Amino acid sequence: MSLLGTDLPLVAAPMAGGATTLDLVAAAASAGCFGFLAAGYKSADAMASDIAAARERGLSELGVNLFLPGASGLTEPDFRRYAGLLQPEADRFGIDLGAAPLREDDDDWPAKVDLLVRDPVPVVSITFGLPAAKDVRALQRVGTRVLVTVTTVEEARAAAALDVDGLIAQGSAAGGHSGTHDPRRPIHPIATEALVRDVVAATRLPVIAGGGVDGPDAVRTILAAGADAVAVGTLLLRTDESGASRTHRDALADPRFTETVITRAFTGRPARGLRNAFIDAHEAEAPYGYPAIHHLTRGLRRAAAEAGDPDRVHLWAGTGSRNATTGPASDTLRRLATQL
Ligand SMILES: Cc1cc2nc3c(=O)[nH]c(=O)nc-3n(C[C@H](O)[C@H](O)[C@H](O)COP(=O)(O)O)c2cc1C
Repeated sequence: MSLLGTDLPLVAAPMAGGATTLDLVAAAASAGCFGFLAAGYKSADAMASDIAAARERGLSELGVNLFLPGASGLTEPDFRRYAGLLQPEADRFGIDLGAAPLREDDDDWPAKVDLLVRDPVPVVSITFGLPAAKDVRALQRVGTRVLVTVTTVEEARAAAALDVDGLIAQGSAAGGHSGTHDPRRPIHPIATEALVRDVVAATRLPVIAGGGVDGPDAVRTILAAGADAVAVGTLLLRTDESGASRTHRDALADPRFTETVITRAFTGRPARGLRNAFIDAHEAEAPYGYPAIHHLTRGLRRAAAEAGDPDRVHLWAGTGSRNATTGPASDTLRRLATQL
């Protein structure tokens, strides 16, 4: 495959927050697929340790995924109002949200880019928006191929104008956060293969596409639409090498959770996950406001995951979640390639 140089046109999609592990990236490589380290939420130092550990294991052909930072745009009163509404949920775990500061952060972006310029990796992918042209150029000058996630054809055109090396086209069926460049825009339903067709026609750039992959048919359809490779997230969440929490894994197999929905209730940024009681109770009142809402609910979500309470933690999942199976990730990936 030209852009990524792998035997199979499949990518282990980056999944920050624990699901992506070094073992998962290694499993993807062993199956002839490309793997991304998920550097989002991590410090630049933690990212550097992950890269070093990957290299020690002989994983040199890998990508690193970064979150483009942005401000929440939240006012203190709106933040406090939502914190107050969530307090009864937090009380279950002895957490006081009244003391939580309205916290913004840049996800250590400048230090991560500096580090990746000093010590380059083959591929860097960026989600949540368009990076500055100087950062794209700095990474490209040291030989890194730079990819940007897009969710609409307009975003694809804007990314192409930055002369990036390729695009990650993310359909609305994808699990986890939408890479939308405008987190206050409602996410319109778009099939991944339809997005691929539009993006390829509009930009002529190589495209890796993901969202809603539930089996080999979906892979074939997305490739037939013009994608160079297919990114797989949700179908890897229950595999042996996934770092997803026990609570998350169990919920993916629990018949009680029958659908996925797009929600901003957990982090203030639209993301697709299994519909649970937290979403039902708070979606209507939840403000847009990443990363402040992410920080507000983080402790509560962590406590819920540890307590095995699937109704108070984000259960990120794409629409293919019913087909997420256990076993080695390399088996899952090879199975997805059986109809190619
Ligand atoms: C648990 C989870 C975490 C994710 N974290 C990231 C991330 O850190 N960066 C990113 O670009 N996309 C992230 N995504 C989106 C995936 O990279 C990918 O676009 C998506 O999983 C593809 O759709 P699928 O889940 O239906 O296979 C995440 C998805 C999930 C399910």
